[in-house]
Amino acid sequence: MPFAIIPEPALIQERDGFFEYMGLPVIEGDFQSEASVLKEQFALVSASQAEARRSPAFSGVDAARKIICKKDESLGSEAYTLAIGREAIELRASCGRGAYHGLQTLRQLFLSGEKISCARIEDEPRFGWRGFMLDASRYFYTVPFIKKLIDALSLHHINVFHWHLTDDQGWRLPVPEYPLLADIGSKRVDRRFLRELPIGGFYTEGDIREIVSFASARHIEVTPEIDFPGHASAILTAYPDLGCTGGPYRVEDRFGIFDDVLCAGNDAIFELADAVFNTVARLFPSPYVHIGGDEVRLTRWTRCPKCNKRLANAGLKNMPELQSWITAKLVSMLAEKGKTAIGWDEVLEDSPRYTLPKDVAVMSWRGAEGGKAAVKRGHSVIMSPNTEGCYLDYRNYGDMEEPGQLGVSTVCQSYSMDPVAGMSESEAALVMGGQCNLWSELIYAGRIAEYMIFPRIVAFAENMWTLHKDFANFARKLPVHRQRLDLLDIVQYRGRLE
Ligand code: ACM
Ligand code: ZN
Repeated sequence: MPFAIIPEPALIQERDGFFEYMGLPVIEGDFQSEASVLKEQFALVSASQAEARRSPAFSGVDAARKIICKKDESLGSEAYTLAIGREAIELRASCGRGAYHGLQTLRQLFLSGEKISCARIEDEPRFGWRGFMLDASRYFYTVPFIKKLIDALSLHHINVFHWHLTDDQGWRLPVPEYPLLADIGSKRVDRRFLRELPIGGFYTEGDIREIVSFASARHIEVTPEIDFPGHASAILTAYPDLGCTGGPYRVEDRFGIFDDVLCAGNDAIFELADAVFNTVARLFPSPYVHIGGDEVRLTRWTRCPKCNKRLANAGLKNMPELQSWITAKLVSMLAEKGKTAIGWDEVLEDSPRYTLPKDVAVMSWRGAEGGKAAVKRGHSVIMSPNTEGCYLDYRNYGDMEEPGQLGVSTVCQSYSMDPVAGMSESEAALVMGGQCNLWSELIYAGRIAEYMIFPRIVAFAENMWTLHKDFANFARKLPVHRQRLDLLDIVQYRGRLE
């Protein structure tokens, strides 16, 4: 295992000799902002690396060794090449994204020692959307934890951080026009343990800007999710008039799917959505906004005079049509702000009158069926099937001793999910890529989150990136890669992979 790079590059040709270094090589040429991130990463880890090997700490920079970065327009936007020689490494890329990926591949090699075999490496990803979702509602993760996670994701060329910011158990985004969303909606009383003490929190605008800019420096796009019209207990607790019954509501401390959703007959829900989307558009440069749309119960709408009036006035046949009507409205509101909507696969359950607008991307979670149906209808798709290793809240292995819920997602499944299985070439062309999700109902600490995420996301990252998928090879590389994650102080599941 001389390289053990994960994801496996498209081409590695080993050459004679070694690039040996005593500290970070001098980084010259183009892509200095990507280079400065590598310097930061190197500085953070060199102390713990020295400690782990009980060797003298790196003296910072090794002036006798160089990484020379060159812009090469002939390469694709995420592609890079590395020519590792005895004295210098030449990195080529057409833009910062490719350059960053190339530097992260070098970071992996640096994390494994002071000697790298000379080689030529060529690399380019298979899929453009290589995502990870963190549910920050069921458990409130701190800014330092999220930054640590984003940094580690970027080591594996993951390029989307989907930030699930709102749910029944907590609203995490301050919206100036609706201050109670953060003041009231961000806190819950967990009656199982802490009867007196509200827990939770929200991210300030400063926190969000810090995370977005930290991620952007690592070429990870932060895509926020605002879940409408279900999973709305936190909104309703802050603004009870937005529900069908008027309440009382509470920020949920139970987990599950709840009857109370936003009242489809109340125009005020769109005023709220407009204010929320303005905040989102201001803080998140991502062209995409995820609008949720999952698990909406129709119980309250069916009995609500306002919802029934809406049905009649809009010429809708039944309550399910009401959800497609809301989705269409939210999508067009976002389009006016220059954003493309993504929805969970329930948004496909539309009506002939309010068909899902073509530009909505569909995230397939209830297996792959939604994704397969969506490409047939011409939608872009992101595959995240809960049945095929993409749900990292599921146990790593079918043993009651393992933390997790609802099902099992093995490392091998995360490696094996094929986003385009059973699709024609033209359908497959609509598949943007795939994503793993960590729902946090049972994930009470960042350390447990790390255990659930690693190494499944490592397997998934190779799955989404490489053209040379080979699980046996991945399993052979993993012990070397685990030592790198150890140096980054990341907790890992270490049990069976299949
Ligand atoms: C989901 O897991 N409810 C998208
Ligand atoms: Zn209603």
